[in-house]
Amino acid sequence: MPHDITLIATITVGFVLACVFGLAATRLRLPPLVGYLLAGVAVGPWTPGFVADSELAAQLAEIGVILLMFGVGLHFSLADLMAVRRLAIPGAVGQILLATAIGIGMAMLWGWSFGAGLVLGLSLSVASTVVLLKALEERNCVATPNGRVAIGWLIVEDLAMVLALVLLPALAEVLGGRAVADAHGGAEHGLLVTLLITFAKVSAFVATVLLVGPRVLPWVLRRVARTGSRELFTLCVLAVALGIALGSAKLFGVSFALGAFFAGMVLNESDLSHKAAANSLPLQDAFAVLFFVSVGMLFDPTILLREPAKVLSVLLLIVVGKSLVALGIVLLLRFPLSTGLMVSASLAQIGEFSFILAGIGLAYGLLPQEGLSLILAGAILSITLNPLVFSLSERACEWLRARPTSHRRLTDFGRENFAALQEELDTARIKAEQKAAQHKKFTPEELVKRFPLFTGLTPEQREVLILHFERASAQPGDRIIRAGDKADAVYFISSGEVEVAVGKKRIKLRAGDFFGEMALITGQPRTADVTAIDYSKFLTLDQRDFRDYLRRFPEIREQISALVTEREEMNRHLMEDEAAPETGGERPA
Ligand code: CMP
Repeated sequence: MPHDITLIATITVGFVLACVFGLAATRLRLPPLVGYLLAGVAVGPWTPGFVADSELAAQLAEIGVILLMFGVGLHFSLADLMAVRRLAIPGAVGQILLATAIGIGMAMLWGWSFGAGLVLGLSLSVASTVVLLKALEERNCVATPNGRVAIGWLIVEDLAMVLALVLLPALAEVLGGRAVADAHGGAEHGLLVTLLITFAKVSAFVATVLLVGPRVLPWVLRRVARTGSRELFTLCVLAVALGIALGSAKLFGVSFALGAFFAGMVLNESDLSHKAAANSLPLQDAFAVLFFVSVGMLFDPTILLREPAKVLSVLLLIVVGKSLVALGIVLLLRFPLSTGLMVSASLAQIGEFSFILAGIGLAYGLLPQEGLSLILAGAILSITLNPLVFSLSERACEWLRARPTSHRRLTDFGRENFAALQEELDTARIKAEQKAAQHKKFTPEELVKRFPLFTGLTPEQREVLILHFERASAQPGDRIIRAGDKADAVYFISSGEVEVAVGKKRIKLRAGDFFGEMALITGQPRTADVTAIDYSKFLTLDQRDFRDYLRRFPEIREQISALVTEREEMNRHLMEDEAAPETGGERPA
């Protein structure tokens, strides 16, 4: 071969096989994720045939994790989480504690160390957000109260795991593993110092991102979006995600995953977050697939034959143990059985966080190789079984509903708590909608409906134009423009009414009209006073953007120039008419 094509081969084989196996999985009515994992097994070192470069695959997988966590951050809603907190927070924490304890007990029975048990237990206790969201989407349950409880529950789990990801390396040595000195420098310090250093680094990171991020990142994104170049925008989103992830790992020693999660969370607040999410999604999808393939590569299938009892115990803990614990907690907190069944089914699998945790456990010498294989076997099997678990929980609900006595008990139990939760969710939704409405820019369609002037623009061009607009408002009586002033912006009236004073004449302009263009076009001072006569809202374009737009869109320039000529002529007539009677009156005298 003329040159080294290992990277190309790894990506190509990863994509091709993931596509083939993913398709086969959906044919068998399994989540495609199972196919991606199996594609990884096929190109892994444990099976015959082509073996992909596992180091390269691991790096590609890391990009997948960064983009996945960036996506989780982009969609993270604190308000939604707060609405379901009464159930999700104690539920998730209790469930993690119980499931981890069972995992530790199980591992110690096998003769493993406490540290190994802890990593195993934690890995088995956390479900996969990717798998859950896909399952809820398929069942149209994402927006239902039960679906939102399950998502909230998982977000709490994710946050707990973020904490575990930070703490594990710091505690590795104490737990019986080895310290990887360059990552945290903890080898030569005591536990307390190591923990303090870790917390100081994480706090410095969080403070930097939360203080600097919201001021800089949305501004940068807006600037780039205003250029109207789609690829530049996508590039900027990726640069932010990967840049912050890598930068935070290098500067503060925190994981890529944490850095990317915060990068997403910071952008979440920006009005461009939807666009950012949409643009990064294809790449996120592609690299997430490579992440699953690379995880599959680590899986040694012989574990199924060598340690069937251990595999079965792991699987039972994930599918049955965790479900029962979750169901028990939901009922204990006095919420309905249907909520409990939905949450249990949602959590009866493990995924990306488990792999990340297991990877760290392995790197720090906490988890034996066998542990990783067991976790992978548990993941592949539980994800495969997940659709079945969901349909079982649905059937259980139907079966209970079919029995009048149990139905009554079923609908009565936890009804009050559920109603309160539903109310909080509704309030959260209304608040979110109000907030969105406040910040809401026009959609390209609304813009054209309101301002026919922009009909000739393509939707993309309209979108960019919307980004250039600033918002302004005025109360009745406010002077918006003063005759003779220097021009700075043009105003498009989105609602309300203003009055233009030309001599003694008053001209009314309403929603859909615009003003302030004459001075900008002629380069002269403002020609008239403009005063609001109603509560009015405007979209304004500053001088530079307005001129830039006129240059780029000659059709709009022509229309506006025609109106300027018309207004100038009208004003001339008005002034002449006003002057005429006076001079006429003076003449006889
Ligand atoms: P400008 O001169 O920049 O500032 C005052 C604005 O009032 C002016 O731009 C026009 O947009 C508006 N204006 C002036 N004359 C008329 C008119 N005859 N009819 C409607 N609007 C006008």
